[in-house]
Amino acid sequence: MDKILILDFGGQTSQLIGRRIREAGVYAEIIPGDCKLTNDILTDDVKGVILSGSPYSVYGKDSPKPDKKVYSLDVPLLGICYGLQITTWENGGVVAPLDKKEYGRSAIRFKIDDSPLLKDIPENFISWMSHGDSLDKLAPGFDLVAESEHNLPAIVENRERKIWGLQFHPEVTHCEYGNQILENFAINICSAAKGWSLDKYIEEAADRLEKQVGDGKVLLLISGGVDSTVAGGLLLKCLKPENVFLMYIDTGMMRKNETEEVSHNLKKLGAENLMIIDARDRFLGPLKGITDPEAKRKSIGDTFIRVQEEEVAKHIEGDYFLAQGTLYTDLIESGKGVGNKAGVIKSHHNVGTPLVEKKRKEGKVVEPLDMLYKDEVRKLGLLLGIEEKIVYRHPFPGPGLGIRIPGEVTEERCDILREADAIYIEELHKRDLYTQIWQAFSVLLPVRSVGVAGDARDYGYVLALRAVVSHDGMTADVFDFPTKDLLEISSAITNRVKEIGRVVYDISSKPPSTIEWE
Ligand code: XMP
Repeated sequence: MDKILILDFGGQTSQLIGRRIREAGVYAEIIPGDCKLTNDILTDDVKGVILSGSPYSVYGKDSPKPDKKVYSLDVPLLGICYGLQITTWENGGVVAPLDKKEYGRSAIRFKIDDSPLLKDIPENFISWMSHGDSLDKLAPGFDLVAESEHNLPAIVENRERKIWGLQFHPEVTHCEYGNQILENFAINICSAAKGWSLDKYIEEAADRLEKQVGDGKVLLLISGGVDSTVAGGLLLKCLKPENVFLMYIDTGMMRKNETEEVSHNLKKLGAENLMIIDARDRFLGPLKGITDPEAKRKSIGDTFIRVQEEEVAKHIEGDYFLAQGTLYTDLIESGKGVGNKAGVIKSHHNVGTPLVEKKRKEGKVVEPLDMLYKDEVRKLGLLLGIEEKIVYRHPFPGPGLGIRIPGEVTEERCDILREADAIYIEELHKRDLYTQIWQAFSVLLPVRSVGVAGDARDYGYVLALRAVVSHDGMTADVFDFPTKDLLEISSAITNRVKEIGRVVYDISSKPPSTIEWE
């Protein structure tokens, strides 16, 4: 399949470049910006290369540099922001710091109006800038195609050498015609064929799984979240269902009806070997008396490892592969995509268990979603017949309600929170608010507050409602909740959950707060 290779120098929006190219129907792959461009990487299906942005300055001591070979390839090259600056620097131009960073919207004035990169794009479109360095002198052989409204070089090209450069970020949504510019590059300039679609992905996943697993058994741990459910659906579609073993562990800290829903949905997808493990006592027992958030996480994590080992030994005989719902972004965020130069590596909450480590060493881990972005996983889920309600579910943390009950986690508290949270989420769906929110949930506070109603609720728990908007969970803004809805939801909860006497709305953004309370 034709592809565009993206050399990632750790820019905040490098992943978005890949997404946009894929949205144009062309397969895109992200690799570390400074990796050696071997023949294994530069295969015939690479039709173009993009150099991403970066938090570094080209003249900095540790600045990541691409393999020089990138400037003498046969295929077209596009440098974005730092990618343009490093291209200029490495080809004899001059890059220098600006007195004042050019940031935000900037109208683009054309100097040359027949550049193939600008096909069908009107002059004065609004770009999105974010740079502290600028081109002082273009590299020899390069022409200035356009300037920003601050008279700084915005687009350059060297048509003979098939190299283009953008100072702005076409991949961010604020940039007008950004998608069109990337499509012009991938399709018109690179002549890459549109071979990327999710139907095609299913076919290729089936081939990959056939080669890797064949008639072997595969175990997948199902959490109830989107990724593992879609991974399960894909395994069931591509392999013989009798060889797919799905294990779901009920920790006692799951959402209301989660266990029943997981079971119902996987059976609908054709699951034959579904193991629902009731481990509620095994998780909640050791949590007794623990109030420190880290100690709670550790207890839940340790129990998970123990239960996993006990149950796998009980239920699966002989050799097997372990499937994981790892996404493309997980690989990139954990450093596999961007090498050690990334400015945006996110530390992962879910560390590999000993079982995962052991299987990885044996080469027995399969990751059927590892080429997909989250929105692609959702679309794939729909294609596989998974209900919309599950596919668009908000993220839910591994330790579950355990980290939404500050203080001691008890069965009674889990039951109260489960009930209240289910009402909150149901109300969000009813009011068409759910899909406007990245993540919404309730937190049961270890605080009792006095109320004026009857006996049962005169000294009730305080429930905090959280709703945030975000792109990736790394930063988040408070959802601007319509007051009427908030008031009605508060009443619905206090009317229906007698143990809750008061409801508050969390108005903290991330940073400085985190999304979860613990
Ligand atoms: P924070 O609270 O760090 O959360 O702002 C960012 C995103 O990560 C989720 N999260 C977790 N996910 N295990 C998980 O699988 C965890 O321990 C964990 N802690 C936070 C959180 O729900 C949000 O989506």
